[in-house]
Amino acid sequence: MGSPIVLGIESSCDETGAGLVRDGRLLGHAVASSMDEHARYGGVVPEIASRAHLHALRPAIRRALDRAGLRLSDVGAVAVTTGPGLSGALQVGVAGAKALAHALGVPLHGVHHLAGHVAADTLEHGPLPDPCVVLIVSGGHTSLLLVRDLARDPIVHLGDTLDDAAGECFDKVARVFGLPYPGGPAVDRAAREGDPRAVALPRPLTGPRDAPYAFSFSGLKTAAARWAEGYAGRELPVADGAAALQEAVADVLTRKAVAACRDHGVGTLVVVGGVAANSRVRSLAEERCRAAGIALRVPPPGLCTDNGAMIAAVGDLLVRAGAAPAPLDLSVDPSAPL
Ligand code: KG4
Ligand code: ZN
Repeated sequence: MGSPIVLGIESSCDETGAGLVRDGRLLGHAVASSMDEHARYGGVVPEIASRAHLHALRPAIRRALDRAGLRLSDVGAVAVTTGPGLSGALQVGVAGAKALAHALGVPLHGVHHLAGHVAADTLEHGPLPDPCVVLIVSGGHTSLLLVRDLARDPIVHLGDTLDDAAGECFDKVARVFGLPYPGGPAVDRAAREGDPRAVALPRPLTGPRDAPYAFSFSGLKTAAARWAEGYAGRELPVADGAAALQEAVADVLTRKAVAACRDHGVGTLVVVGGVAANSRVRSLAEERCRAAGIALRVPPPGLCTDNGAMIAAVGDLLVRAGAAPAPLDLSVDPSAPL
């Protein structure tokens, strides 16, 4: 008998994810997104997201099981995101996970969403080296972390954004540029045809006296918006703006992440979260890590954005580390600290 098959459930924002993991191996996963329903509002509407999770959860679990060639009765543990995220959205996943764990008579584990993003990489590249520096970049977070054993050791916070997250910056500037929601992938696509040198954008907090691992993206967002305003009445060269924005974000992120590795004598950088799907963030991280002799790990794009497999990956680590299961009155923690 190996370790149990862990079903992971994710519902913290606008993606309903279900994934199955055993012994660090991804068996199958499925993601349903309510993104299109939010598009006309230009951002995630919490009430719509909660209702969408309610409809999507059972089909997502069914699809993940089908892809893995498994039945529900094969599940030996359930893991679910408890936070951070939208309260109502989280509650749908947690209620579903509790019901399943209770009905199947299997243990339940609560998972921190960001631990999920970090663990996503293990499904592709195996266990994380101890220690490693993790750059987590999503719609809600931009942090540099020093990670040891995910199931046992506390994660050490090296730095955070002081204002907007990198993904938020992409999403908000995309809106000003007239690009569709979600902005990150739209900027990535538009940037392919653009010249990043055509627009001069700032590199916030990269001066010698600035906090080395802190980020700030709100000034960059304003600078990009000001540049766009300068085109009032004329056609905006969106591709150039997108390329310049992407270059500025990728430059700041990778510069600080490589410095964090160097300063702490760490040989591996792991980049995770939705913005890790960005093509320029990936290529510049590769270039700079190669030059600095640092090993780079980035999950495939489908495991960078929110999914259930990453939650199952943490559940699997917890189960194998012998962690105590959560009680059935486990509650959501929308603003869970790291
Ligand atoms: O991790 P994630 O799926 O959800 C959160 O936990 O926030 O990240 C979503 C964020 C959004 O801001 C989205 O615009 C951004 O990741 N994103 C991207 C790309 N794909 C997703 N940003 C830049 N380039 C991309 N290709
Ligand atoms: Zn996320």
